[in-house]
Amino acid sequence: MSAGLWLVFFFFTVVADAKYPPGGSYHLLSLRQNMKISKSKAELPFHFQTHYFPQNLDHFSFQPESYRIFHQKYLISSHFWRKGGPIFVYTGNEGDIEWFASNTGFMLDIAPKFEALLVFIEHRFYGESKPPRSAKAMGYLNSQQALADYAILIRSLKQNLSSEASPVVVLGGSYGGMLAAWFRLKYPHIAIGALASSAPILQFDKIVPSSSFYDSISQDFKSSREAGVFSTMKDGLQELSKKFRSCKGLHNVTAASQWLDSAFVNTAMVNYPTPANFMAPLPAYPVEEMCKIIDGFPPEASNLDRAFAAASLYYNYSGSEKCFDIENETDPHGVNGWYWQACTEMVMPISCSNQSMFQPFENDDKGDQEYCLREYGVKPRPHWITTEFGGQRIEMVLKRFGSNIIFSNGMQDPWSREGILKNISSSIIALVTKKGAHHADLRAATKEDPEWLKEQRRQEVAEMEKWISEYYSDLRQEEQGSY
Ligand SMILES: *[C@@H]1O[C@H](CO)[C@@H](O)[C@H](O)[C@H]1NC(C)=O
Ligand SMILES: *[C@@H]1O[C@H](CO)[C@@H](O)[C@H](O)[C@H]1NC(C)=O
Ligand SMILES: *[C@@H]1O[C@H](CO)[C@@H](O)[C@H](O)[C@H]1NC(C)=O
Ligand SMILES: *[C@@H]1O[C@H](CO)[C@@H](O)[C@H](O)[C@H]1NC(C)=O
Ligand SMILES: *[C@@H]1O[C@H](CO)[C@@H](O)[C@H](O)[C@H]1NC(C)=O
Ligand SMILES: *[C@@H]1O[C@H](CO)[C@@H](O)[C@H](O)[C@H]1NC(C)=O
Repeated sequence: MSAGLWLVFFFFTVVADAKYPPGGSYHLLSLRQNMKISKSKAELPFHFQTHYFPQNLDHFSFQPESYRIFHQKYLISSHFWRKGGPIFVYTGNEGDIEWFASNTGFMLDIAPKFEALLVFIEHRFYGESKPPRSAKAMGYLNSQQALADYAILIRSLKQNLSSEASPVVVLGGSYGGMLAAWFRLKYPHIAIGALASSAPILQFDKIVPSSSFYDSISQDFKSSREAGVFSTMKDGLQELSKKFRSCKGLHNVTAASQWLDSAFVNTAMVNYPTPANFMAPLPAYPVEEMCKIIDGFPPEASNLDRAFAAASLYYNYSGSEKCFDIENETDPHGVNGWYWQACTEMVMPISCSNQSMFQPFENDDKGDQEYCLREYGVKPRPHWITTEFGGQRIEMVLKRFGSNIIFSNGMQDPWSREGILKNISSSIIALVTKKGAHHADLRAATKEDPEWLKEQRRQEVAEMEKWISEYYSDLRQEEQGSY
């Protein structure tokens, strides 16, 4: 089984080393245990209201069962809204929408300036927006259904608010960023533009080399310092022993190595310039901090000790962990849906080259297929996403089609290598920061934010202002009958 299947990439990344035989339930367990999700969820401001919108289970056929209803959760705030003003919609990704909302402070920060309505829509089958569970219903969990949900909900909302002419801008991070970009391409009549932050839309169909992800993590640690990080990781994993302060006796070396591995992968993803509590509470630039820990050991120290101390930064920065539940970290975010998506449409090959600080492994298509058939009775469709949304020669395609999309990326983020890093046209642009991490731009502004981050957000706001003012000017012309 290859790691690609297990990368749930908004919040966490999990590494299943290909040299271990595929074993679905084991890997499922190991995915859970590798997560270290901050337990304290930031509170949403008082002015958000929660609603549940009835959606059809299936938008694309007219079988009686298509009309089964599930209730889609969405959060809304009209606190800053001037009626008729813009509507900013977060296209929810694989998890609880409140969690995304509380980690997307950017939208709250800019709402007053735009006098915008804020809406966060939960992705079907995640959080509270779960249809009744049945093997049959799972077939309706996919990105196209999710985009259609967003379109239908937005139209209904605008109608209810008697604000049909309000321009809608969609925003999202990671898988949510892919959805935002695809939404703009598929539903240009509903959203005037999209901000797609850290959206790895080229991670499909081998458009980028499958080793990009791991190679970039290695680069992060390498560029942070020429520390002995490389040998530390490689040898540390081989020296595994009872040293882990595990809550229960550690039975599984694989589990322990994945636990270590995840600490490095996840820290690279959230290498934010200020202290943050996204996947776990961490200091500013945690990669640098990890390197300092590793360098701080005397030369005779074992690599396992170094690796363990570095991993403890990720798992125990708050100092409140009495022991590590290495073989059983629980998951509050309903990841099960992502396994399904990875087994059907979200087929993202991942391998690890021998240039990396991790153990090399190949992407294991065959193992993945066997797992998916066994677990869900489905075969992955590796070419579907690129057929549905495109991907190959994306610059050439989008240069002549589409407009008003920002692809933002931070190069510290291992997912950046699979994103759009070049300007495509005057209105499909790439905003790339060297020191940015996984959708750093979508986080709330802080006083300590570095200039490059402020500048990235300023450019995003300027683009959005341009889209909106063009929209109103077109609208005026239309009303005057000049079209
Ligand atoms: C709009 O109002 C109708 C009628 O009250 C309601 O059924 C629907 O859920 C509302 N739409 C949204 C998006 O809340
Ligand atoms: C440990 O790993 C082996 C091999 O992957 C697996 O068969 C076994 O179920 C694992 N044990 C536990 C307790 O997870
Ligand atoms: C977490 O950090 C605290 C404070 O440094 C320490 O006392 C504790 O042993 C650590 N927990 C683990 C499991 O290492
Ligand atoms: C894992 O954690 C869950 C929730 O805390 C608990 O119910 C379960 O018994 C644990 N499993 C093991 C094997 O420790
Ligand atoms: C690394 O991989 C490349 C390409 O597969 C191969 O040519 C090279 O010999 C390998 N290097 C080592 C040190 O294994
Ligand atoms: C794309 O264009 C903008 C100006 O519109 C510029 O600020 C930005 O640096 C360009 N992006 C890249 C990756 O060159």
